[in-house]
Amino acid sequence: MAEVVVVEDERAAGELVAGSIVSLIRQKPDAVLGLATGSTPLASYRALAARIGAESIDVRGVRGFALDEYVGLPDGHPESYRAVITREVVEPLGLTPELVRVPNGDPATIEHAGADYEAAITAAGGVDLQILGIGRTGHIGFNEPGSSLASLTRVKTLTEPTRVDNARFFDSPEDVPMHCITQGIGTILRARHLVLLAFGDAKAEAVAAAVEGGVSASQPGSAIQLHPHATVIVDEAAASRLANLEYYRHAWANKPAWQGI
Ligand code: GLP
Repeated sequence: MAEVVVVEDERAAGELVAGSIVSLIRQKPDAVLGLATGSTPLASYRALAARIGAESIDVRGVRGFALDEYVGLPDGHPESYRAVITREVVEPLGLTPELVRVPNGDPATIEHAGADYEAAITAAGGVDLQILGIGRTGHIGFNEPGSSLASLTRVKTLTEPTRVDNARFFDSPEDVPMHCITQGIGTILRARHLVLLAFGDAKAEAVAAAVEGGVSASQPGSAIQLHPHATVIVDEAAASRLANLEYYRHAWANKPAWQGI
Protein backbone atom coordinates (compact mmCIF):
# COMPACT_ATOMS: atom_id res chain seq x y z
CA MET A 1 0.00 0.00 0.00
CA ALA A 2 1.16 3.50 -0.68
CA GLU A 3 1.81 5.66 2.35
CA VAL A 4 -0.78 8.45 2.42
CA VAL A 5 0.16 11.71 4.10
CA VAL A 6 -2.54 14.34 4.54
CA VAL A 7 -1.15 17.84 4.84
CA GLU A 8 -2.73 21.23 5.40
CA ASP A 9 -1.86 22.72 2.05
CA GLU A 10 0.49 22.70 -0.93
CA ARG A 11 3.08 24.65 1.01
CA ALA A 12 3.28 21.96 3.70
CA ALA A 13 3.52 19.28 1.01
CA GLY A 14 6.31 21.25 -0.62
CA GLU A 15 8.28 21.32 2.65
CA LEU A 16 7.97 17.54 3.00
CA VAL A 17 9.05 16.85 -0.56
CA ALA A 18 11.90 19.36 -0.37
CA GLY A 19 13.11 17.73 2.86
CA SER A 20 13.16 14.32 1.25
CA ILE A 21 15.02 15.56 -1.83
CA VAL A 22 17.55 17.48 0.27
CA SER A 23 18.40 14.31 2.27
CA LEU A 24 18.69 12.39 -0.99
CA ILE A 25 21.09 14.94 -2.50
CA ARG A 26 23.15 15.02 0.70
CA GLN A 27 23.60 11.25 0.46
CA LYS A 28 23.98 11.21 -3.31
CA PRO A 29 25.17 14.48 -4.89
CA ASP A 30 24.47 13.14 -8.38
CA ALA A 31 20.95 11.97 -7.47
CA VAL A 32 18.54 11.41 -10.34
CA LEU A 33 15.23 13.24 -9.94
CA GLY A 34 12.10 12.39 -11.89
CA LEU A 35 10.40 15.68 -12.67
CA ALA A 36 6.70 16.29 -13.26
CA THR A 37 5.19 19.36 -14.89
CA GLY A 38 1.72 20.77 -14.19
CA SER A 39 0.75 23.09 -11.35
CA THR A 40 0.80 20.42 -8.63
CA PRO A 41 4.56 20.17 -8.00
CA LEU A 42 5.28 23.91 -8.18
CA ALA A 43 5.19 24.46 -4.41
CA SER A 44 7.65 21.59 -3.99
CA TYR A 45 10.06 23.12 -6.50
CA ARG A 46 9.77 26.49 -4.74
CA ALA A 47 10.42 24.93 -1.32
CA LEU A 48 13.36 22.99 -2.71
CA ALA A 49 14.86 26.10 -4.31
CA ALA A 50 14.55 27.91 -0.97
CA ARG A 51 16.31 25.08 0.92
CA ILE A 52 19.07 24.85 -1.67
CA GLY A 53 19.66 28.60 -1.38
CA ALA A 54 19.42 28.80 2.41
CA GLU A 55 21.66 25.77 3.04
CA SER A 56 24.05 26.34 0.10
CA ILE A 57 23.49 22.80 -1.17
CA ASP A 58 25.68 21.89 -4.12
CA VAL A 59 23.29 20.66 -6.82
CA ARG A 60 25.62 20.92 -9.80
CA GLY A 61 25.77 17.12 -10.10
CA VAL A 62 22.04 16.48 -9.71
CA ARG A 63 20.47 14.90 -12.76
CA GLY A 64 16.86 14.98 -13.89
CA PHE A 65 14.42 13.31 -16.26
CA ALA A 66 11.07 14.89 -17.06
CA LEU A 67 8.08 12.60 -17.35
CA ASP A 68 6.70 13.80 -20.63
CA GLU A 69 6.58 16.29 -23.50
CA TYR A 70 4.18 17.39 -26.21
CA VAL A 71 4.91 16.24 -29.74
CA GLY A 72 5.34 18.86 -32.43
CA LEU A 73 5.53 22.15 -30.55
CA PRO A 74 8.02 24.52 -32.17
CA ASP A 75 11.44 24.71 -30.49
CA GLY A 76 11.37 27.15 -27.58
CA HIS A 77 7.54 27.21 -27.30
CA PRO A 78 6.90 28.55 -23.78
CA GLU A 79 4.48 25.70 -22.98
CA SER A 80 6.71 22.91 -24.17
CA TYR A 81 7.65 20.86 -21.13
CA ARG A 82 11.32 21.53 -21.98
CA ALA A 83 10.62 25.25 -21.47
CA VAL A 84 8.50 24.63 -18.35
CA ILE A 85 11.15 22.42 -16.74
CA THR A 86 13.84 25.02 -17.52
CA ARG A 87 11.71 27.84 -16.09
CA GLU A 88 10.26 26.09 -13.04
CA VAL A 89 13.01 23.68 -12.09
CA VAL A 90 16.43 24.03 -13.72
CA GLU A 91 16.80 27.80 -13.28
CA PRO A 92 15.31 28.28 -9.78
CA LEU A 93 17.16 25.24 -8.39
CA GLY A 94 20.40 26.06 -10.16
CA LEU A 95 20.68 22.63 -11.79
CA THR A 96 23.16 21.99 -14.59
CA PRO A 97 21.00 22.29 -17.76
CA GLU A 98 22.86 19.53 -19.65
CA LEU A 99 22.07 17.06 -16.86
CA VAL A 100 18.31 17.53 -17.12
CA ARG A 101 16.60 15.66 -19.93
CA VAL A 102 13.11 15.98 -21.34
CA PRO A 103 11.71 13.51 -23.90
CA ASN A 104 12.28 14.82 -27.40
CA GLY A 105 8.97 15.70 -29.05
CA ASP A 106 10.47 16.62 -32.42
CA PRO A 107 8.42 14.77 -35.08
CA ALA A 108 11.59 14.25 -37.15
CA THR A 109 13.09 11.86 -34.57
CA ILE A 110 9.97 10.74 -32.76
CA GLU A 111 10.13 7.11 -33.94
CA HIS A 112 13.16 6.37 -31.78
CA ALA A 113 12.77 9.12 -29.16
CA GLY A 114 11.15 6.72 -26.67
CA ALA A 115 13.89 4.12 -26.92
CA ASP A 116 16.55 6.85 -26.69
CA TYR A 117 14.99 8.20 -23.53
CA GLU A 118 14.77 4.77 -21.91
CA ALA A 119 18.44 4.21 -22.73
CA ALA A 120 19.39 7.53 -21.14
CA ILE A 121 17.49 6.73 -17.93
CA THR A 122 19.13 3.32 -17.75
CA ALA A 123 22.58 4.82 -18.39
CA ALA A 124 21.99 7.26 -15.53
CA GLY A 125 21.34 4.32 -13.20
CA GLY A 126 17.60 4.92 -12.95
CA VAL A 127 15.52 7.56 -11.19
CA ASP A 128 15.97 7.88 -7.42
CA LEU A 129 12.87 9.93 -6.61
CA GLN A 130 10.00 10.44 -9.02
CA ILE A 131 7.60 13.31 -8.42
CA LEU A 132 4.14 12.65 -9.85
CA GLY A 133 0.97 14.63 -10.25
CA ILE A 134 -2.28 12.96 -11.29
CA GLY A 135 -4.71 14.11 -13.93
CA ARG A 136 -8.48 14.18 -13.56
CA THR A 137 -8.64 11.13 -15.82
CA GLY A 138 -6.29 9.30 -13.45
CA HIS A 139 -3.29 9.74 -15.72
CA ILE A 140 0.27 9.83 -14.45
CA GLY A 141 2.79 11.41 -16.78
CA PHE A 142 0.65 11.40 -19.89
CA ASN A 143 -0.35 7.74 -19.50
CA GLU A 144 -4.03 8.03 -20.19
CA PRO A 145 -6.53 5.33 -19.14
CA GLY A 146 -5.80 2.14 -21.05
CA SER A 147 -2.02 2.55 -20.90
CA SER A 148 -0.28 -0.74 -20.28
CA LEU A 149 1.04 -1.11 -16.76
CA ALA A 150 4.26 -2.37 -18.34
CA SER A 151 4.59 0.46 -20.88
CA LEU A 152 7.86 2.26 -21.54
CA THR A 153 8.47 5.73 -23.01
CA ARG A 154 6.42 6.14 -26.21
CA VAL A 155 4.04 8.36 -28.11
CA LYS A 156 0.46 8.59 -26.87
CA THR A 157 -2.69 10.36 -28.04
CA LEU A 158 -4.11 12.71 -25.42
CA THR A 159 -7.72 12.34 -24.31
CA GLU A 160 -10.06 15.26 -24.88
CA PRO A 161 -10.49 15.95 -21.10
CA THR A 162 -6.71 16.25 -20.76
CA ARG A 163 -6.49 18.58 -23.76
CA VAL A 164 -9.30 20.68 -22.28
CA ASP A 165 -7.55 20.78 -18.86
CA ASN A 166 -4.27 21.81 -20.46
CA ALA A 167 -5.90 24.40 -22.73
CA ARG A 168 -5.42 26.94 -19.96
CA PHE A 169 -1.75 27.10 -20.91
CA PHE A 170 -2.48 27.75 -24.59
CA ASP A 171 -4.35 30.42 -26.53
CA SER A 172 -7.14 28.02 -27.48
CA PRO A 173 -8.01 24.33 -26.88
CA GLU A 174 -7.17 23.53 -30.53
CA ASP A 175 -3.58 24.65 -29.89
CA VAL A 176 -3.03 21.82 -27.38
CA PRO A 177 -1.10 19.14 -29.26
CA MET A 178 -2.91 15.88 -29.98
CA HIS A 179 0.15 13.73 -29.23
CA CYS A 180 2.71 13.51 -26.50
CA ILE A 181 5.71 11.39 -25.61
CA THR A 182 5.61 10.09 -22.07
CA GLN A 183 7.52 7.80 -19.78
CA GLY A 184 5.48 4.63 -19.53
CA ILE A 185 3.94 3.25 -16.38
CA GLY A 186 6.63 0.55 -16.45
CA THR A 187 9.27 3.30 -16.64
CA ILE A 188 7.74 5.13 -13.69
CA LEU A 189 7.57 1.95 -11.62
CA ARG A 190 11.34 1.47 -12.00
CA ALA A 191 12.04 4.67 -10.03
CA ARG A 192 13.20 3.87 -6.51
CA HIS A 193 10.73 6.18 -4.72
CA LEU A 194 7.45 7.55 -6.06
CA VAL A 195 5.98 10.71 -4.55
CA LEU A 196 2.52 11.44 -5.89
CA LEU A 197 1.03 14.83 -5.05
CA ALA A 198 -2.58 15.93 -5.41
CA PHE A 199 -4.53 18.92 -4.15
CA GLY A 200 -8.15 20.01 -4.34
CA ASP A 201 -11.59 18.42 -4.82
CA ALA A 202 -11.10 17.85 -8.52
CA LYS A 203 -8.44 15.23 -7.74
CA ALA A 204 -10.31 13.39 -4.95
CA GLU A 205 -11.77 10.70 -7.17
CA ALA A 206 -8.53 10.03 -9.04
CA VAL A 207 -6.65 9.80 -5.72
CA ALA A 208 -9.15 7.33 -4.25
CA ALA A 209 -8.99 5.19 -7.39
CA ALA A 210 -5.19 5.30 -7.40
CA VAL A 211 -4.75 4.43 -3.74
CA GLU A 212 -7.71 2.16 -2.97
CA GLY A 213 -9.23 1.07 -6.28
CA GLY A 214 -8.40 -2.05 -8.20
CA VAL A 215 -5.07 -2.05 -10.01
CA SER A 216 -5.99 -1.49 -13.60
CA ALA A 217 -4.79 0.05 -16.82
CA SER A 218 -8.08 1.96 -16.75
CA GLN A 219 -6.75 3.87 -13.75
CA PRO A 220 -3.07 4.50 -14.51
CA GLY A 221 -2.49 6.05 -11.06
CA SER A 222 -3.40 2.70 -9.45
CA ALA A 223 -0.03 1.37 -10.68
CA ILE A 224 1.53 2.99 -7.60
CA GLN A 225 0.04 0.07 -5.64
CA LEU A 226 2.60 -2.16 -7.37
CA HIS A 227 5.49 -0.07 -6.08
CA PRO A 228 7.25 -0.96 -2.81
CA HIS A 229 7.95 2.67 -1.88
CA ALA A 230 5.20 5.05 -2.91
CA THR A 231 4.21 8.14 -0.93
CA VAL A 232 0.97 10.00 -1.66
CA ILE A 233 0.83 13.55 -0.30
CA VAL A 234 -2.59 15.16 -0.44
CA ASP A 235 -4.56 17.99 1.12
CA GLU A 236 -7.89 17.38 2.90
CA ALA A 237 -9.90 18.03 -0.26
CA ALA A 238 -7.95 15.57 -2.40
CA ALA A 239 -8.09 13.02 0.46
CA SER A 240 -11.84 13.36 0.92
CA ARG A 241 -12.86 10.20 -0.97
CA LEU A 242 -10.38 7.87 0.74
CA ALA A 243 -12.15 5.14 2.71
CA ASN A 244 -9.21 4.39 5.01
CA LEU A 245 -8.36 7.99 5.78
CA GLU A 246 -8.40 7.56 9.55
CA TYR A 247 -5.87 4.76 9.35
CA TYR A 248 -3.54 6.82 7.15
CA ARG A 249 -3.67 9.67 9.66
CA HIS A 250 -3.00 7.24 12.52
CA ALA A 251 -0.06 5.62 10.73
CA TRP A 252 1.49 9.00 9.89
CA ALA A 253 1.00 10.33 13.45
CA ASN A 254 2.80 7.27 14.81
CA LYS A 255 5.52 7.02 12.21
CA PRO A 256 9.06 6.71 13.57
CA ALA A 257 10.81 10.03 12.84
CA TRP A 258 13.89 8.33 11.34
CA GLN A 259 11.87 6.84 8.51
CA GLY A 260 11.15 10.06 6.59
CA ILE A 261 8.71 9.71 3.75
C1 GLP B 1 -0.55 17.07 -17.01
C2 GLP B 1 0.85 16.39 -16.94
C3 GLP B 1 0.95 15.46 -15.77
C4 GLP B 1 0.35 16.18 -14.56
C5 GLP B 1 -1.15 16.29 -14.75
C6 GLP B 1 -1.83 17.12 -13.69
O1 GLP B 1 -1.22 16.85 -18.17
N1 GLP B 1 1.27 15.72 -18.11
O2 GLP B 1 2.30 15.08 -15.54
O3 GLP B 1 0.59 15.43 -13.41
O4 GLP B 1 -1.49 16.68 -16.04
O5 GLP B 1 -1.65 18.50 -13.90
P1 GLP B 1 -1.83 19.56 -12.76
O6 GLP B 1 -0.73 19.31 -11.78
O7 GLP B 1 -1.67 20.89 -13.40
O8 GLP B 1 -3.17 19.33 -12.17
